[in-house]
Amino acid sequence: MNRRSFLDRLWQVMAGALALGAALPALAFWWRPPRRDGSEEQWVDLGSAPKIPEGEWLRKPFTFERRDRWRIEQARELVYLRREGKSFQVLSAVCPHTGCLVRRQQEGFTCPCHKSFFDAEGRSIEGPSPRDLDELEWKVERRRLKVNYQRFRPGVSERQVLRG
Ligand code: FES
Repeated sequence: MNRRSFLDRLWQVMAGALALGAALPALAFWWRPPRRDGSEEQWVDLGSAPKIPEGEWLRKPFTFERRDRWRIEQARELVYLRREGKSFQVLSAVCPHTGCLVRRQQEGFTCPCHKSFFDAEGRSIEGPSPRDLDELEWKVERRRLKVNYQRFRPGVSERQVLRG
């Protein structure tokens, strides 16, 4: 290798390193480690945990910032939640059939679109819904109830998280 080709090669290596260095912040912004189940966490504050009445299902609409990589949008969603002592149950109000919002009724939940019925635990008991109402992960932090809000693929019997 003569001096000229050595300098050419050195220049190429340095240019490549500079390009990679410039691209690293963008790559770091785009890359987030996936959770083991392939979903992404989006914790939403649903209010004071001790103030949630015990035993009864509570209809809880909320808005939050849905973050999808670089895009942020205001999303309006609805869950049903219930407290039993220090434990909570949070159900997505999105019907697993095609995604209409279910309504609370005396015996459980009903979907007005194609007449799916769910019992008081959210189990599918009648109609075209392929699975039970989707239960959401929750936690209490500093006496605030937080839910990991996710949407799931409609029309399938296995629960699959929708991304983005
Ligand atoms: S969307 Fe609920 S039954 Fe069809």
